[in-house]
Amino acid sequence: MIEKKVLILMGSPRKAGNTAILSEHLARGAQNAGANAQTLFLQALDINPCTGCNQCQGEDAAGCVVEDAMQEIYPKLREADSIVFASPIYWFSVSAQLKAVIDRMYAVGGGDKNVLKGKSFGVLLAYADSDPYTSGAVNALRMFEDIADYLGATLVGAVYGSAWEAGEIRDNEDLLKEAFRLGQKLALQPVSHEL
Ligand SMILES: Cc1cc2nc3c(=O)[nH]c(=O)nc-3n(C[C@H](O)[C@H](O)[C@H](O)COP(=O)(O)O)c2cc1C
Repeated sequence: MIEKKVLILMGSPRKAGNTAILSEHLARGAQNAGANAQTLFLQALDINPCTGCNQCQGEDAAGCVVEDAMQEIYPKLREADSIVFASPIYWFSVSAQLKAVIDRMYAVGGGDKNVLKGKSFGVLLAYADSDPYTSGAVNALRMFEDIADYLGATLVGAVYGSAWEAGEIRDNEDLLKEAFRLGQKLALQPVSHEL
């Protein structure tokens, strides 16, 4: 059997923070179910915002023209069976680190260029407020629903919970188990995208 690839886009600048811990548990779950899981710590990568030049669109376009770390991420997005969007809630939405990658996905997901169709998506979110509505997590969840719908991807699951200090999320054992289970579930999803 071909090993499934789970790519985790980890959008918190805190390497040992709550989103990182959720990502770690999801990765363990995916590995436990036989998949290969790779986590990208976006903060450490040189990823610029989309310039809106539209050179990635059009029939003869050869991808994004901005030369930065996204050029190494595009092949990973293409090869992944599952993509996990992991972020702290910043100002009622995802972090700028993750949003920059999402915007730059335009080159492989916008218009006719969609290579993300049929992939499985997962979402991990951490926020300080006790409530997914007042924290703004609900806005991020809605955004991922729309993105998956637009791309023809399947949003397999979302794991989200409250924590403030880096590492505090470890106290929520049920949530960590949920992240682990989402990893397993992603690893076991049938492949419905083109290889
Ligand atoms: C710039 C900034 C903006 C934030 N905005 C929100 C917010 O809108 N809603 C919320 O509930 N928590 C907010 N928080 C709190 C973080 O989401 C929370 O501390 C989270 O656990 C951080 O995750 P991390 O440890 O993975 O970085 C914000 C924190 C920062 C630094």
